Amino acid sequence: MNQDAKVTAPTRVLRVALLGCGTVGRQVAGTLLDKAEDLAAKAGCHLELIGIAVRNVNKPREGIPPELLTDDAAGLVANGGADIVIELIGGIDPPRELIVSAITHGASVVTANKALLAAHGEEIYAAAEKNRVDIYFEAAVAGAIPIVRPLRESLVGDEIRSVMGIVNGTTNYILDKMTNDHQDFEEALATAQQLGYAEQDPTADVEGYDAAAKAAILAGLAFHSPVSGSDVFREGITSVSTADIEAARASDCVVKLLAIAKIDEHDRISVRVHPAMVPYSHPLAMVNGPYNAIFVEAANAGRLMFMGPGAGGSPTASAVTGDLVTVARNRMRGVVGPAHSVYQAHQLAPMGETRTRYYVRFRVADQSGVLASVASLLAKHHVSVHSIRQTPIEDGREAASARVSMMTHEAQESDMMVCLEELEKSDYVLGSVRLMRAEGA
Ligand code: NDP
Ligand code: HSE
Repeated sequence: MNQDAKVTAPTRVLRVALLGCGTVGRQVAGTLLDKAEDLAAKAGCHLELIGIAVRNVNKPREGIPPELLTDDAAGLVANGGADIVIELIGGIDPPRELIVSAITHGASVVTANKALLAAHGEEIYAAAEKNRVDIYFEAAVAGAIPIVRPLRESLVGDEIRSVMGIVNGTTNYILDKMTNDHQDFEEALATAQQLGYAEQDPTADVEGYDAAAKAAILAGLAFHSPVSGSDVFREGITSVSTADIEAARASDCVVKLLAIAKIDEHDRISVRVHPAMVPYSHPLAMVNGPYNAIFVEAANAGRLMFMGPGAGGSPTASAVTGDLVTVARNRMRGVVGPAHSVYQAHQLAPMGETRTRYYVRFRVADQSGVLASVASLLAKHHVSVHSIRQTPIEDGREAASARVSMMTHEAQESDMMVCLEELEKSDYVLGSVRLMRAEGA
């Protein structure tokens, strides 16, 4: 190393306003305060934390100088002269007005707010472009995992065909407990709550809203087309039973809550979130606990997998701080990063036209001709059976019955739904039919 080389300390200062000082915000504030020199060297300027907006300024917050706190978020954004605003409040209101205000006041924005971007992303991206400022949101999808920038920049020259992933840590943790510790849904949810993965109101996670918002963001990035959370077909994990988990195990599969975005041969995109059976051999089957992973298939790059912690204060703050430094570097050079690339208007394929494989199980009267009737009913609706297993049920009842479980070849969702209805109505199927989609063969 050249001993004469001197590192010149940056002289310029960029003013940073932080909105929110909760699980993620306090970690970001800590980095800004404790690693100021390191961040300055990386960004090429000092990042001066000018204020932190919170709901309750009297709450004790270790390591946070009280004089930085304010409960006037709108005033901090409008009058603080911030160059960069970091939004870590969450939800739609007030973050929507605060971010738009920051942008119109000329500040670049970093946010982790997937709910807002999935609902009002287009408005926010357009405002940022009009005002020539950055909007960066790496932390909005899968916490610490770099996936937004790879889709937005590294893979932009390629053609993405599908994005499939585990993007909600809470539900992955619950399904993992059900699979490996044989807990039922309620027990696993309670454990997730005790450990702080699931909130007291777990609806956003267990009903798939959080994953649907992330799926919408991923689909928009992958296919350069506007996609909102309400475009996403969504089913959560509340109906997944221990019997489903055991049935998956018997087929060498695990149950995962998947977010899937695909483009079809008619150039239409489909975006869905639902529990699915995934074979042990697929890389996503090995993603356990609160981890996230995203599997991308691109025309030239082939198959790529991104994996890591999808939530938590420190991991999420890592992604936020990465965005902060990037945005600061852009600002120092007087440039903005890539605008949101929406130049396509792909149609959305209705869920009924989605094609996947299905695992179906039900109980039948154990009589001759029953399996033939099942096969003929499925054939009538263009559903082809891949494999089938029948197990006699010995429960002491007089009439013999059997459990049938089968995996189909790829079939159209609308055809499969008709089969389900007709099977349930038939006189040889006893009780309800349980169906689960199967992915990743
Ligand atoms: P928290 O609920 O822990 O923190 C929210 C913060 O916002 C609190 O400091 C709260 O103040 C403050 N706040 C709430 N309402 C207002 C308001 N009206 N004006 C000013 N401040 C307000 O949220 P998280 O840190 O968990 O999440 C922040 C964002 O990061 C969300 O968008 C979330 O989706 C996203 N995210 C979170 C992850 C995680 O693991 N937690 C992972 C990935 C993304 P006070 O402290 O006074 O209550
Ligand atoms: N609740 C989310 C999860 C973290 O469990 O993955 C925030 O995105």
